[in-house]
Amino acid sequence: MQERAAILGSGHYVPPRVVTNDDLAQMFDTSDEWIVQRTGIRERRFIDESGTGASDLALPAAKMAIEQAGLEVGDIDAIIFATLSPDIYFPGSGCLLGHKLGLGGVPALDVRNQCSGFLYSLSVADAWIRGGMYRNVLVVGAEVHSTGIELADRGRDVAVLFGDGAGAVVVGAAKREGQGIKTVELHADGVGAQDLWVEAPASMFIPRLDEGMLAEGRHYPRMNGRQVFRWATEKMPEVAHAVLGKCDLKVDDVDLFIPHQANMRINQMVAKRLGITDDRVVHNIERYGNTTAATIPIGISESWREGKLEPGSKVLFAAFGAGFTWAGAVVEF
Ligand code: ACO
Repeated sequence: MQERAAILGSGHYVPPRVVTNDDLAQMFDTSDEWIVQRTGIRERRFIDESGTGASDLALPAAKMAIEQAGLEVGDIDAIIFATLSPDIYFPGSGCLLGHKLGLGGVPALDVRNQCSGFLYSLSVADAWIRGGMYRNVLVVGAEVHSTGIELADRGRDVAVLFGDGAGAVVVGAAKREGQGIKTVELHADGVGAQDLWVEAPASMFIPRLDEGMLAEGRHYPRMNGRQVFRWATEKMPEVAHAVLGKCDLKVDDVDLFIPHQANMRINQMVAKRLGITDDRVVHNIERYGNTTAATIPIGISESWREGKLEPGSKVLFAAFGAGFTWAGAVVEF
């Protein structure tokens, strides 16, 4: 019999330094009122020490997830690390995290699908477990955005959105009837690549980075906010309906909806289009901003610890991000 894969444990970690909207307003021309009204974000976390990478934030999150799963670190036989802000250009953060966990020889795969990265990673872990290739896969989403955003007037539309943080889950064989990852659906369309991207340094340029690019800020994320908003509010409900349909479930059957936390306004519109009541929608963007690949595993970990997730809970996930990429999933806990 083919095994069904399930989420067995979760964890999260955010750096202690809280940066409020008022703090940002000290750095560039913005206001708490503008940020809250457009995004719902009130504060986010930034690393406060040079040398703290995504793998460092992932380490405590991973240990927490392994402990909740009732496992030892040595039980992990594969790592999948979703991030758009790896510690360094190469090697991947998965290798760095594996080393920090003492998992020499354990395979580590970095996934670069931005805000959809966690659900893309979950689909890989699901296939590995069901195919019998690995027993316990550590799936991490972690980002350090604060060192890469332009904290100045020119970059303010993007700079107010992002924060640092990490979330992790352990995926292994389901232990109960019904429990498990029911379905994951993935999409991408490069037509939107330039609507949300960091262009440089880039291997297609000779040199990869020069003074001109730095002066123009091409090494900072650039976003066509309205285009992202339009696509996200269309694709997230679409993929959510698709995954529910594959599982013969209706919106009313869903105990909890954990959407990617891009923007409170996006999620409110997605929830409205889905017709799901607010008490079943998880949001933590007020406190953390957009932590990209980390938003969903942080949402899982917090919900589990707050008692919103229990054995038998049916959870719907949806994400949209740079690429464009988008994804949905249904999981029974
Ligand atoms: N503070 C104050 N004013 C600002 C700021 C800021 N941080 N940023 C932009 N403005 C100004 C603009 O300069 C502009 O001024 P102008 O009218 O004088 O030209 C005005 O505010 C309106 O700017 P717009 O870009 O038109 O603002 P918009 O209403 O589109 O809202 C926002 C911007 C919030 C980014 C919106 O487009 C949005 O929600 N987009 C979705 C993008 C998103 O959430 N991305 C998250 C990352 S991607 C992901 O995870 C899916």
